[in-house]
Amino acid sequence: MKTLIATEKPFAPKAVEGIRKVFENAAMETVLLEKYTNKQQLLDAVENVDAIIIRSDVVDAEILAAAKDLKIVVRAGAGYDNVDLDAATAHKVVVMNTPGQNANAVAELALGLMVYAARNGFDGTSGSELLGKKLGIHAYGNVGRNVARIAKGFGMEIYAYDAFYPVEAIEKDGVKALSSTEELYTTCQYVSLHIPSTPETKKSINYALLTKMPEKAVLINTARKEVINEEDLVKLLEARPDFKYLTDITPGNDAELREKFPKRYFTTPKKMGAQTAEANNNAGIAAARQIVDFFVNGNTKFQVNK
Ligand code: 3PG
Repeated sequence: MKTLIATEKPFAPKAVEGIRKVFENAAMETVLLEKYTNKQQLLDAVENVDAIIIRSDVVDAEILAAAKDLKIVVRAGAGYDNVDLDAATAHKVVVMNTPGQNANAVAELALGLMVYAARNGFDGTSGSELLGKKLGIHAYGNVGRNVARIAKGFGMEIYAYDAFYPVEAIEKDGVKALSSTEELYTTCQYVSLHIPSTPETKKSINYALLTKMPEKAVLINTARKEVINEEDLVKLLEARPDFKYLTDITPGNDAELREKFPKRYFTTPKKMGAQTAEANNNAGIAAARQIVDFFVNGNTKFQVNK
């Protein structure tokens, strides 16, 4: 059995070593394709492999068609919007993710971005503190829960809205559960996005919603760029000189945002949320173990295209 680790943005070397060990112990082979710069390299690399580990790397119908021996793709991470699930199912390929493995890393970055916003990008001017400020966590999954845990240490007043997570479980964490996105955005000066990119959520963060945020609003996005209505975001930043947008996923209209709002818009140069040695290790090794467990025991616990 041969597994390809296909990572345009590589894991930390120690994590790659750990993944290799897992496969070695199971008498399986590992091949590595890092920092590839075009799709053809990926098309060539997938040709004779039984399994693939990816990050935000795109596995579409063309890649799946080229991967003749492929049985399983594991997205080392939470979001699997980069995999064409229908095409995978049509090719009888199992797709899995590794939920929770990089949640703390992403949550720490979300708080880091809040501090950066509160301190005016460390530009020397007098900023503000997070203590006592209202934080809205939009979706209370693995990352959202970690954001709540860390934000408590900052002394923030924490609110959350999640359409699927039980209210009692949210409130047990000392977080106030609100009943709609509108209520969350109306209540909170800081909002941290943790919704996945799905047909329902795409472009759902729009002008009508953002305009409800209180004075000196800060929107933090460590989720997906697709959930933002980018035209509306420009309109909003124009209408609200007090509004800041900080993101870990460079928007499609980055150049326009940079030019128009240099003090109120910030993006990391490369998606950094899960880019820690710990998260790489957690997610990468979990992915490798899931692949071994799939081939040895037929375990499909984390399958997302059932
Ligand atoms: C995830 O969905 O787990 C994160 O967005 C991490 O993405 P990355 O592996 O590309 O850093």
